Amino acid sequence: MPLPKQEYMSDVWKDGIFANKVVFCTGGAGTICSAQVRALVHLGADACIIGRNVEKTEKAATDIATARPAAKVIGIGAVDVRRPDDLATAADRCAKELGGIDFVIAGAAGNFLAPMNQLSPNAFKSVMDIDVLGSYNTVKATLPYLVESAAKHRTSGNAPSPNGTGGRILFVSATLHYAGTPMQTHVMAAKAAVDALSSGVAIEQGPRGVTANVLAPGPIAGTEGMERLARGGEERAATMKMVPLGRWGGVKEIADATVFLFGDAGNFVNGDVLVVDGGAWRTQSTLGGKGFEYPDFLLSGEVVTGVKGGKKSKL
Ligand code: COA
Repeated sequence: MPLPKQEYMSDVWKDGIFANKVVFCTGGAGTICSAQVRALVHLGADACIIGRNVEKTEKAATDIATARPAAKVIGIGAVDVRRPDDLATAADRCAKELGGIDFVIAGAAGNFLAPMNQLSPNAFKSVMDIDVLGSYNTVKATLPYLVESAAKHRTSGNAPSPNGTGGRILFVSATLHYAGTPMQTHVMAAKAAVDALSSGVAIEQGPRGVTANVLAPGPIAGTEGMERLARGGEERAATMKMVPLGRWGGVKEIADATVFLFGDAGNFVNGDVLVVDGGAWRTQSTLGGKGFEYPDFLLSGEVVTGVKGGKKSKL
């Protein structure tokens, strides 16, 4: 369904800045990543979005393609980022069908709320595998295409490349590990590693013209993460009060930051972390919702209830 532009990007960007460019995005059917890709498609890019669920991924691709007449958006489902071969096949298909890969968004992630005493080794490993190995596998599968794109889009500061920009990768991380967040040990460990991975790509691939950055969204309305966290009206209000700007962000604000980093304005930004959170991480050291008051909730030994997702077996 075509969405009104103001729902997924602001008005400050010029149409066509990503013409003839291709974006490859894991987790592309998700709330945040689909808005990022939709904005890039609106501004001229074609895209491949990658996901585990075939129907959801293909449906999201068709939907995102409505952002611009004649846009090509391919949904590649049945890809688990934990399997490098799946990703290599998807990247090769994307390059073959759309002509290359200029931008990558490593957005696939796993999350649920659980304190360590309710977190099995396999649960911890699942999130590490999806976030860290999944991001690494994404880099490995797409890097040859990014290097090729970077070579075509070299810029020397004031003079922008006549071909536009390319050769950029963006990791969607989080802010949970900055101050520390209870019930998110697994995610904190994973996102810290993702941040480090991005730095590694930035310093090793920078000489080839590839840039790598991290985008760290804070509380964003409509996302699975916030649905899991905020259980009802009272919890929502409490978490909003903890944000210095007094509200949750919108996916549009994440999409705008993505356009900045991939566009000509972001040419010299490499190895950085762009936090888009209304200042929230500075006040977030606990979850804030009334049902999870720190430290009482943890000391009670209560099992996390009332949120989406559950564990399969007892520890
Ligand atoms: N609390 C504690 N443990 C949990 C849990 C919860 N809420 N949810 C899942 N687990 C555990 C499972 O019990 C299992 O551990 P076990 O084998 O010791 O029982 C382990 O995590 C893996 O679960 P499984 O369902 O086999 O993994 P999966 O690979 O199918 O799914 C998840 C991975 C668990 C991260 C799942 O939530 C997921 O697919 N998430 C993707 C979407 C998402 O999280 N988006 C949010 C982004 S912010």
